[in-house]
Amino acid sequence: MPQDVKEQFVIEGMYGSKSLQGAITVAGAKNAVLPAMAASLLSDKQLVLTNVPHIEDVLRMSELLEGLGVTVTRTEDTLTLQASAVRTSHIERESAKRMRSSVFLTGPLLARFQEARFPHPGGCVIGERPIDQFLKGFAQMGATISHEDEWYVVRAKDGLKGATLFFDLVSVSATETFMMAATLARGTTVLENCATEPEVVFLAEVLRRGGAQIYGDGTSTIHIEGGALLSYDEPIPVIPDRIETSSFLLLAALAGTDVVINECNPQHVRIMTQYLESTGVPLEIGGTHIRIVNNTKPNTAFVSARDIRTHEYPGFPTDIQAPLSVFLTQVTGENTVFETIFENRLGYTDDLIKMGADITVWNPQKMMVRGPRKLKGRELMSPDLRAGLAFIMAGVVAEGTSVVGNAYYIDRGYQHIEQRLSALGVQIRRTA
Ligand code: EPZ
Repeated sequence: MPQDVKEQFVIEGMYGSKSLQGAITVAGAKNAVLPAMAASLLSDKQLVLTNVPHIEDVLRMSELLEGLGVTVTRTEDTLTLQASAVRTSHIERESAKRMRSSVFLTGPLLARFQEARFPHPGGCVIGERPIDQFLKGFAQMGATISHEDEWYVVRAKDGLKGATLFFDLVSVSATETFMMAATLARGTTVLENCATEPEVVFLAEVLRRGGAQIYGDGTSTIHIEGGALLSYDEPIPVIPDRIETSSFLLLAALAGTDVVINECNPQHVRIMTQYLESTGVPLEIGGTHIRIVNNTKPNTAFVSARDIRTHEYPGFPTDIQAPLSVFLTQVTGENTVFETIFENRLGYTDDLIKMGADITVWNPQKMMVRGPRKLKGRELMSPDLRAGLAFIMAGVVAEGTSVVGNAYYIDRGYQHIEQRLSALGVQIRRTA
């Protein structure tokens, strides 16, 4: 079960000084490993994933899969899943309500077992998180959908049939769920208006390694030929987490003089490196590392005055919006931020304003951030995992001590965060 959400992080502020030094290694991507775990349902053979992060969401997804009858074993950074003895297609309610990613299970369950029974996968603080694209797509592939209490029951007694689905909006999880469902459908499926995130391409790689015929991933149109159960061969390494990479880049720019971010994929964070270089942050970009080097100028020497809007890949990721806003409070200039993906993802700004940030929120999706402003440490409560990481960053640059509550939310997506940040020189500790 999850750790006590009352756990907190205590951070001693660095008063805007820069002294972090050393190396930090990026973990495997949360948003790549979760759909890949669901793909284990498409086979009765083992699926072995390596470079799997030690995060709460992997534990939750493991519990969901074990509840279905999948065997899940973990040694170090390796996860082995086998869905040869699945005994039910009913997704466990509590976990499903707590984690949106449970929606990834619906497509594989329906495709393999001709039925999926699940509660609405739960909205969260950043938005209502509807599943209309999933229900519409399942119907187009021949399934019937009924409601029993608060459960959706989706059935396809003759199996799913290939179809051409045109998503009304770009959805990462819908793209991934229907890629998976289509691998076991009868005939050809064409998905249009797809997400092109690296995590989508990674999942397509996993499915191809299982024998699926799938191409076009990384573009807005993906073709999948339905076939037999997949059969995975060699262990598959999970791609690096580009949101972690971008978060560490921002922290190092604000508080580090010489920090190297290892085992990342610079290609996946071009929007961030290009932006940071444009503000004057000194970066050295390698094949699998990015180094903030000779970063001795004060943050007020960084200049940013532009309209920033979150966007589907390769634009500014919505998951980096909160950490980026902390950066904007410290550099010189006025920036508008437009959160285009989720309808309610600026809630964390109230706490930043109480720390001293100069932020004007025009509506739930638009704000102006004026920098530079000194931040004062205070008690903060993480509303979601990305804002939680942003609060840790704010605590690091602030004057005085900060306490960031709901450590569990941060542990959902950042493994061993206090150990990794302490190794750079951040004064952070976990308390119960
Ligand atoms: C994925 O969520 C990520 N999660 C999110 O990361 C990320 O913020 C999001 O993609 C956008 O990049 C995982 O991959 C596990 P969407 P997902 O479907 O797939 C609307 C994090 O912090 N929509 O691409 O659920 C939806 O409400 C998390 O790691 C519908 O309207 O997001 C949103 O406004 C947060 N109907 C937009 O589409 C649907 O049927 C994009 O959402 C589906 C989605």
